[in-house]
Amino acid sequence: MSTFDVPPSRRGTGSLKWDKRPELQPFWVADMDFPSPPEVIEALHHRVDHGVFGYAVPHDGLVDSILAYLAKRHGASISADHLVHLGGLVPALSLAGRAFANPGDALLTCTPIYPPFLNIHRDASLELITVPHILEDDQWVFDWDSMETAVTPDTRLFLLSNPQNPLGRVFSEEEIIQLAEFCDRHDLILVSDEIHCDLILDEERTPHFTALRLPDKYAVRTITLLSPSKTYNVAGMGYAYAVIPDQRLRHRFASKRGHILAEITCLGYHCAEAAYRHGESWRRELISYLRSNRDLLTAFCREELGKVTIPDMEATYLAWLDFRPAGIPEPARFLEEEAGLFLSDGRFFGGPGHARLNFGCSRVLLEEALESIRKALGKRT
Ligand SMILES: Cc1ncc(COP(=O)(O)O)c(C=O)c1O
Repeated sequence: MSTFDVPPSRRGTGSLKWDKRPELQPFWVADMDFPSPPEVIEALHHRVDHGVFGYAVPHDGLVDSILAYLAKRHGASISADHLVHLGGLVPALSLAGRAFANPGDALLTCTPIYPPFLNIHRDASLELITVPHILEDDQWVFDWDSMETAVTPDTRLFLLSNPQNPLGRVFSEEEIIQLAEFCDRHDLILVSDEIHCDLILDEERTPHFTALRLPDKYAVRTITLLSPSKTYNVAGMGYAYAVIPDQRLRHRFASKRGHILAEITCLGYHCAEAAYRHGESWRRELISYLRSNRDLLTAFCREELGKVTIPDMEATYLAWLDFRPAGIPEPARFLEEEAGLFLSDGRFFGGPGHARLNFGCSRVLLEEALESIRKALGKRT
Protein backbone atom coordinates (compact mmCIF):
# COMPACT_ATOMS: atom_id res chain seq x y z
CA MET A 1 0.00 0.00 0.00
CA SER A 2 1.23 3.46 -0.88
CA THR A 3 0.93 6.61 1.23
CA PHE A 4 -1.22 7.97 -1.58
CA ASP A 5 -3.77 5.26 -0.76
CA VAL A 6 -4.60 6.72 2.64
CA PRO A 7 -4.97 10.50 2.37
CA PRO A 8 -6.28 12.40 5.39
CA SER A 9 -9.93 13.39 5.47
CA ARG A 10 -10.44 16.91 4.11
CA ARG A 11 -14.10 17.43 4.96
CA GLY A 12 -14.65 20.37 7.28
CA THR A 13 -11.10 21.68 6.80
CA GLY A 14 -12.21 24.70 4.75
CA SER A 15 -11.34 22.85 1.54
CA LEU A 16 -12.91 24.31 -1.60
CA LYS A 17 -12.96 20.87 -3.17
CA TRP A 18 -14.57 19.01 -0.27
CA ASP A 19 -16.64 21.62 1.51
CA LYS A 20 -18.34 23.46 -1.34
CA ARG A 21 -20.93 20.73 -1.88
CA PRO A 22 -20.51 18.45 1.14
CA GLU A 23 -23.40 16.24 0.05
CA LEU A 24 -21.45 15.12 -3.06
CA GLN A 25 -18.20 13.20 -3.58
CA PRO A 26 -15.79 15.77 -5.09
CA PHE A 27 -13.91 15.13 -8.35
CA TRP A 28 -13.89 18.69 -9.62
CA VAL A 29 -11.44 21.54 -8.84
CA ALA A 30 -7.79 20.80 -9.63
CA ASP A 31 -6.22 19.94 -6.33
CA MET A 32 -5.28 16.51 -5.11
CA ASP A 33 -6.26 14.79 -1.89
CA PHE A 34 -2.64 13.97 -1.02
CA PRO A 35 -0.51 15.72 1.61
CA SER A 36 2.46 17.59 0.16
CA PRO A 37 6.01 16.15 0.32
CA PRO A 38 7.22 15.77 3.92
CA GLU A 39 10.11 18.16 3.15
CA VAL A 40 7.62 20.88 2.20
CA ILE A 41 5.64 20.38 5.39
CA GLU A 42 8.85 20.46 7.40
CA ALA A 43 10.02 23.70 5.74
CA LEU A 44 6.67 25.32 6.52
CA HIS A 45 6.91 24.19 10.15
CA HIS A 46 10.38 25.66 10.30
CA ARG A 47 9.21 29.02 8.93
CA VAL A 48 6.16 29.07 11.22
CA ASP A 49 8.39 28.37 14.23
CA HIS A 50 10.22 31.61 13.51
CA GLY A 51 7.03 33.29 14.63
CA VAL A 52 7.31 36.57 12.70
CA PHE A 53 5.17 36.90 9.58
CA GLY A 54 5.82 40.36 8.19
CA TYR A 55 5.91 41.39 4.52
CA ALA A 56 8.14 39.13 2.49
CA VAL A 57 10.39 39.28 -0.55
CA PRO A 58 11.55 36.37 -2.70
CA HIS A 59 14.64 35.27 -0.80
CA ASP A 60 17.84 34.15 -2.56
CA GLY A 61 17.21 30.49 -1.72
CA LEU A 62 13.90 30.56 -3.58
CA VAL A 63 15.33 32.19 -6.68
CA ASP A 64 18.29 29.77 -6.70
CA SER A 65 15.96 26.79 -6.38
CA ILE A 66 13.80 28.00 -9.29
CA LEU A 67 16.79 28.56 -11.56
CA ALA A 68 18.29 25.18 -10.66
CA TYR A 69 14.96 23.42 -11.19
CA LEU A 70 14.35 25.06 -14.59
CA ALA A 71 17.87 24.16 -15.71
CA LYS A 72 17.82 20.58 -14.43
CA ARG A 73 14.30 19.46 -15.21
CA HIS A 74 13.50 21.58 -18.25
CA GLY A 75 16.90 22.34 -19.75
CA ALA A 76 16.07 26.06 -19.62
CA SER A 77 18.75 28.53 -18.75
CA ILE A 78 17.22 31.77 -17.51
CA SER A 79 18.47 34.56 -15.34
CA ALA A 80 17.00 35.76 -12.05
CA ASP A 81 15.93 39.11 -13.45
CA HIS A 82 13.61 37.39 -15.94
CA LEU A 83 11.33 36.36 -13.04
CA VAL A 84 8.17 38.16 -11.96
CA HIS A 85 6.73 36.70 -8.76
CA LEU A 86 2.96 36.52 -8.36
CA GLY A 87 0.31 35.18 -6.03
CA GLY A 88 -1.23 32.91 -8.67
CA LEU A 89 -1.41 32.05 -12.34
CA VAL A 90 -4.92 33.32 -12.93
CA PRO A 91 -3.93 36.87 -11.89
CA ALA A 92 -0.96 36.47 -14.26
CA LEU A 93 -3.26 35.60 -17.16
CA SER A 94 -5.40 38.63 -16.39
CA LEU A 95 -2.34 40.84 -16.06
CA ALA A 96 -1.12 39.67 -19.48
CA GLY A 97 -4.44 40.70 -21.01
CA ARG A 98 -4.21 44.15 -19.45
CA ALA A 99 -0.51 44.60 -20.21
CA PHE A 100 -0.40 43.57 -23.85
CA ALA A 101 -3.73 44.69 -25.27
CA ASN A 102 -5.97 47.76 -25.28
CA PRO A 103 -9.75 47.78 -24.87
CA GLY A 104 -11.32 46.53 -28.08
CA ASP A 105 -8.32 44.37 -29.05
CA ALA A 106 -8.69 40.59 -29.06
CA LEU A 107 -7.09 37.52 -27.55
CA LEU A 108 -7.12 34.07 -29.08
CA THR A 109 -7.22 30.66 -27.43
CA CYS A 110 -8.26 27.12 -28.29
CA THR A 111 -11.07 25.20 -26.62
CA PRO A 112 -11.88 23.30 -24.51
CA ILE A 113 -9.75 25.18 -22.01
CA TYR A 114 -9.41 25.94 -18.29
CA PRO A 115 -12.31 28.40 -17.69
CA PRO A 116 -10.36 31.55 -16.67
CA PHE A 117 -8.84 31.54 -20.19
CA LEU A 118 -12.38 32.25 -21.42
CA ASN A 119 -13.04 35.00 -18.90
CA ILE A 120 -9.95 37.15 -18.33
CA HIS A 121 -10.64 39.18 -21.48
CA ARG A 122 -13.41 40.90 -19.50
CA ASP A 123 -10.83 42.37 -17.09
CA ALA A 124 -9.37 44.41 -19.96
CA SER A 125 -12.49 44.85 -22.14
CA LEU A 126 -11.02 42.63 -24.85
CA GLU A 127 -12.71 40.50 -27.44
CA LEU A 128 -12.34 36.74 -27.04
CA ILE A 129 -11.71 34.58 -30.11
CA THR A 130 -11.83 30.82 -29.64
CA VAL A 131 -10.95 28.01 -32.02
CA PRO A 132 -11.79 24.41 -31.06
CA HIS A 133 -9.01 21.82 -30.91
CA ILE A 134 -9.64 18.94 -33.30
CA LEU A 135 -9.18 15.19 -33.01
CA GLU A 136 -6.70 13.82 -35.53
CA ASP A 137 -5.72 10.14 -35.36
CA ASP A 138 -7.22 9.96 -31.86
CA GLN A 139 -5.13 12.91 -30.70
CA TRP A 140 -6.25 16.45 -29.83
CA VAL A 141 -4.31 18.92 -31.98
CA PHE A 142 -4.42 22.56 -33.08
CA ASP A 143 -6.67 23.39 -36.02
CA TRP A 144 -4.10 25.57 -37.79
CA ASP A 145 -6.37 26.44 -40.73
CA SER A 146 -9.17 27.65 -38.47
CA MET A 147 -6.70 29.60 -36.37
CA GLU A 148 -5.44 31.37 -39.50
CA THR A 149 -9.02 32.24 -40.41
CA ALA A 150 -9.99 33.36 -36.91
CA VAL A 151 -7.05 35.60 -36.04
CA THR A 152 -7.67 39.31 -36.75
CA PRO A 153 -5.37 42.33 -37.11
CA ASP A 154 -6.57 43.43 -33.66
CA THR A 155 -5.56 40.19 -31.97
CA ARG A 156 -2.72 40.77 -29.53
CA LEU A 157 -2.28 37.56 -27.51
CA PHE A 158 -2.49 33.80 -27.74
CA LEU A 159 -3.19 31.94 -24.48
CA LEU A 160 -1.75 28.42 -24.37
CA SER A 161 -2.22 25.73 -21.74
CA ASN A 162 0.62 23.19 -22.07
CA PRO A 163 0.16 20.51 -20.83
CA GLN A 164 -3.41 21.11 -21.84
CA ASN A 165 -6.13 21.33 -19.21
CA PRO A 166 -8.57 19.59 -19.74
CA LEU A 167 -7.41 17.53 -22.74
CA GLY A 168 -4.32 16.08 -21.05
CA ARG A 169 -2.14 16.67 -24.13
CA VAL A 170 1.57 17.44 -23.88
CA PHE A 171 2.19 19.40 -27.06
CA SER A 172 5.29 18.33 -28.97
CA GLU A 173 8.28 20.53 -29.70
CA GLU A 174 7.13 20.75 -33.33
CA GLU A 175 3.66 21.95 -32.30
CA ILE A 176 5.05 24.58 -29.92
CA ILE A 177 7.45 25.88 -32.55
CA GLN A 178 4.64 26.00 -35.09
CA LEU A 179 2.54 27.94 -32.56
CA ALA A 180 5.41 30.35 -31.86
CA GLU A 181 5.80 30.86 -35.60
CA PHE A 182 2.04 31.52 -35.88
CA CYS A 183 2.31 34.11 -33.08
CA ASP A 184 5.33 35.71 -34.74
CA ARG A 185 3.59 35.96 -38.11
CA HIS A 186 0.52 37.59 -36.55
CA ASP A 187 2.48 39.70 -34.05
CA LEU A 188 0.90 38.04 -30.99
CA ILE A 189 2.31 37.70 -27.49
CA LEU A 190 2.44 34.00 -26.62
CA VAL A 191 1.33 33.40 -23.03
CA SER A 192 2.30 29.85 -22.15
CA ASP A 193 0.66 28.54 -18.97
CA GLU A 194 2.76 25.54 -17.96
CA ILE A 195 1.40 24.98 -14.46
CA HIS A 196 0.99 21.23 -15.17
CA CYS A 197 4.46 20.73 -16.70
CA ASP A 198 5.76 18.44 -13.95
CA LEU A 199 2.75 16.15 -14.16
CA ILE A 200 3.77 14.32 -17.34
CA LEU A 201 2.61 10.74 -17.02
CA ASP A 202 4.88 9.10 -19.62
CA GLU A 203 7.80 11.44 -19.87
CA GLU A 204 9.85 9.35 -22.29
CA ARG A 205 7.02 9.06 -24.77
CA THR A 206 5.67 12.61 -24.44
CA PRO A 207 8.34 14.97 -23.07
CA HIS A 208 7.29 18.51 -22.22
CA PHE A 209 8.82 21.21 -24.41
CA THR A 210 8.73 24.42 -22.41
CA ALA A 211 8.31 27.75 -24.17
CA LEU A 212 11.42 28.77 -22.19
CA ARG A 213 13.39 26.81 -24.76
CA LEU A 214 12.05 28.62 -27.80
CA PRO A 215 14.71 30.26 -29.98
CA ASP A 216 15.45 33.93 -29.19
CA LYS A 217 13.44 35.25 -32.13
CA TYR A 218 10.28 33.77 -30.50
CA ALA A 219 11.34 34.16 -26.85
CA VAL A 220 11.10 37.95 -27.18
CA ARG A 221 7.30 37.67 -27.56
CA THR A 222 6.76 34.89 -25.00
CA ILE A 223 5.79 34.89 -21.38
CA THR A 224 5.83 31.57 -19.53
CA LEU A 225 3.78 31.05 -16.39
CA LEU A 226 4.81 28.48 -13.82
CA SER A 227 4.16 27.37 -10.26
CA PRO A 228 4.89 24.40 -8.02
CA SER A 229 1.24 24.53 -6.95
CA LYS A 230 -0.31 21.68 -8.95
CA THR A 231 2.56 19.21 -8.76
CA TYR A 232 3.19 19.51 -5.03
CA ASN A 233 -0.43 20.18 -4.15
CA VAL A 234 0.20 23.58 -2.62
CA ALA A 235 -2.32 25.68 -4.58
CA GLY A 236 -3.65 27.16 -1.33
CA MET A 237 -0.22 28.68 -0.57
CA GLY A 238 -0.64 31.22 -3.41
CA TYR A 239 2.64 31.41 -5.27
CA ALA A 240 3.41 31.49 -9.00
CA TYR A 241 5.87 33.24 -11.28
CA ALA A 242 6.21 34.48 -14.82
CA VAL A 243 9.41 34.15 -16.83
CA ILE A 244 9.74 37.01 -19.32
CA PRO A 245 13.11 37.23 -21.07
CA ASP A 246 12.38 40.45 -22.96
CA GLN A 247 12.94 43.46 -20.75
CA ARG A 248 10.36 45.71 -22.42
CA LEU A 249 7.67 43.05 -22.16
CA ARG A 250 8.61 42.27 -18.56
CA HIS A 251 8.37 45.91 -17.61
CA ARG A 252 4.94 46.31 -19.26
CA PHE A 253 3.70 43.19 -17.49
CA ALA A 254 5.10 44.00 -14.06
CA SER A 255 3.96 47.62 -14.13
CA LYS A 256 0.34 46.57 -14.72
CA ARG A 257 0.23 44.95 -11.29
CA GLY A 258 -0.85 48.31 -9.92
CA HIS A 259 -2.31 48.10 -6.43
CA ILE A 260 -4.82 45.35 -6.91
CA LEU A 261 -2.69 42.29 -6.19
CA ALA A 262 -2.09 41.16 -2.62
CA GLU A 263 1.44 40.60 -1.32
CA ILE A 264 2.82 37.07 -1.66
CA THR A 265 3.15 35.50 1.78
CA CYS A 266 6.38 34.39 3.41
CA LEU A 267 4.90 30.90 3.66
CA GLY A 268 4.19 30.84 -0.07
CA TYR A 269 7.81 31.66 -0.88
CA HIS A 270 9.29 29.13 1.53
CA CYS A 271 6.89 26.43 0.45
CA ALA A 272 7.88 26.91 -3.20
CA GLU A 273 11.58 26.73 -2.39
CA ALA A 274 11.18 23.47 -0.47
CA ALA A 275 9.06 21.91 -3.21
CA TYR A 276 11.59 22.68 -5.94
CA ARG A 277 14.62 21.87 -3.82
CA HIS A 278 13.50 18.68 -2.13
CA GLY A 279 10.34 17.43 -3.81
CA GLU A 280 11.69 15.35 -6.69
CA SER A 281 11.57 11.86 -5.20
CA TRP A 282 8.03 12.47 -3.88
CA ARG A 283 7.06 13.77 -7.32
CA ARG A 284 8.25 10.57 -8.97
CA GLU A 285 6.16 8.47 -6.58
CA LEU A 286 3.20 10.72 -7.27
CA ILE A 287 3.55 10.29 -11.04
CA SER A 288 3.64 6.54 -10.67
CA TYR A 289 0.45 6.60 -8.57
CA LEU A 290 -1.33 8.98 -10.96
CA ARG A 291 -0.27 6.85 -13.93
CA SER A 292 -1.95 3.81 -12.35
CA ASN A 293 -5.07 5.89 -11.65
CA ARG A 294 -5.04 7.08 -15.26
CA ASP A 295 -4.69 3.52 -16.56
CA LEU A 296 -7.50 2.26 -14.33
CA LEU A 297 -9.79 5.13 -15.31
CA THR A 298 -9.07 4.78 -19.04
CA ALA A 299 -9.63 1.02 -19.04
CA PHE A 300 -12.80 1.28 -16.94
CA CYS A 301 -14.21 4.01 -19.12
CA ARG A 302 -13.53 2.11 -22.34
CA GLU A 303 -14.73 -1.25 -21.04
CA GLU A 304 -17.53 -0.41 -18.61
CA LEU A 305 -18.97 3.02 -19.42
CA GLY A 306 -20.62 2.20 -22.73
CA LYS A 307 -20.45 5.05 -25.17
CA VAL A 308 -18.73 7.57 -22.88
CA THR A 309 -15.34 8.37 -24.41
CA ILE A 310 -12.00 9.38 -22.89
CA PRO A 311 -8.90 10.58 -24.78
CA ASP A 312 -5.42 9.15 -24.21
CA MET A 313 -4.15 11.25 -21.32
CA GLU A 314 -0.50 12.26 -21.42
CA ALA A 315 -0.42 14.61 -18.43
CA THR A 316 -2.27 16.09 -15.44
CA TYR A 317 -4.70 14.33 -13.11
CA LEU A 318 -7.71 15.65 -15.01
CA ALA A 319 -9.71 13.53 -17.45
CA TRP A 320 -12.01 14.91 -20.13
CA LEU A 321 -15.00 12.62 -20.53
CA ASP A 322 -17.38 12.99 -23.47
CA PHE A 323 -20.92 11.95 -22.55
CA ARG A 324 -22.54 13.08 -25.79
CA PRO A 325 -22.23 9.67 -27.50
CA ALA A 326 -24.12 8.25 -24.48
CA GLY A 327 -26.93 10.75 -25.12
CA ILE A 328 -26.23 12.82 -21.99
CA PRO A 329 -26.04 16.53 -22.88
CA GLU A 330 -25.48 17.77 -19.31
CA PRO A 331 -23.21 15.19 -17.68
CA ALA A 332 -22.24 17.25 -14.63
CA ARG A 333 -25.90 17.62 -13.68
CA PHE A 334 -26.58 13.97 -14.50
CA LEU A 335 -23.68 12.76 -12.32
CA GLU A 336 -24.69 15.03 -9.48
CA GLU A 337 -28.29 13.86 -9.52
CA GLU A 338 -27.80 10.19 -10.39
CA ALA A 339 -24.41 9.32 -8.91
CA GLY A 340 -23.88 11.83 -6.09
CA LEU A 341 -20.65 13.04 -7.74
CA PHE A 342 -19.30 16.56 -8.27
CA LEU A 343 -17.36 16.83 -11.55
CA SER A 344 -16.44 20.01 -13.42
CA ASP A 345 -19.04 21.00 -15.99
CA GLY A 346 -17.61 20.98 -19.52
CA ARG A 347 -19.71 24.00 -20.49
CA PHE A 348 -17.38 26.26 -18.50
CA PHE A 349 -14.45 24.99 -20.59
CA GLY A 350 -16.24 25.61 -23.88
CA GLY A 351 -17.04 21.89 -24.16
CA PRO A 352 -20.72 21.18 -23.46
CA GLY A 353 -21.61 17.49 -23.16
CA HIS A 354 -18.33 16.83 -21.31
CA ALA A 355 -17.35 16.54 -17.68
CA ARG A 356 -13.84 16.80 -16.23
CA LEU A 357 -12.92 14.22 -13.64
CA ASN A 358 -10.10 14.87 -11.16
CA PHE A 359 -8.32 11.58 -10.45
CA GLY A 360 -5.81 13.07 -7.98
CA CYS A 361 -7.36 10.97 -5.24
CA SER A 362 -6.95 7.57 -3.61
CA ARG A 363 -7.54 4.59 -5.87
CA VAL A 364 -10.40 3.38 -3.69
CA LEU A 365 -12.23 6.67 -4.05
CA LEU A 366 -11.70 6.60 -7.81
CA GLU A 367 -12.97 3.03 -8.05
CA GLU A 368 -16.08 3.91 -6.04
CA ALA A 369 -16.79 6.90 -8.27
CA LEU A 370 -16.41 4.86 -11.45
CA GLU A 371 -18.76 2.22 -10.06
CA SER A 372 -21.31 4.98 -9.25
CA ILE A 373 -21.04 6.31 -12.82
CA ARG A 374 -21.50 2.79 -14.23
CA LYS A 375 -24.63 2.26 -12.11
CA ALA A 376 -26.05 5.67 -13.03
CA LEU A 377 -25.55 4.95 -16.73
CA GLY A 378 -27.03 1.46 -16.26
CA LYS A 379 -30.22 2.90 -14.79
CA ARG A 380 -30.86 4.71 -18.05
CA THR A 381 -30.87 1.63 -20.29
C1 LIG B 1 -4.03 25.62 -16.69
C2 LIG B 1 -4.21 26.23 -15.34
N1 LIG B 1 -3.77 27.47 -15.10
C3 LIG B 1 -3.92 28.06 -13.89
C4 LIG B 1 -4.53 27.38 -12.84
C5 LIG B 1 -4.73 28.06 -11.51
O1 LIG B 1 -3.63 28.74 -11.11
P1 LIG B 1 -3.62 29.59 -9.74
O2 LIG B 1 -4.30 28.76 -8.71
O3 LIG B 1 -2.16 29.79 -9.50
O4 LIG B 1 -4.33 30.87 -10.02
C6 LIG B 1 -4.99 26.09 -13.04
C7 LIG B 1 -5.69 25.38 -11.96
O5 LIG B 1 -6.29 24.37 -12.15
C8 LIG B 1 -4.82 25.49 -14.31
O6 LIG B 1 -5.24 24.25 -14.55
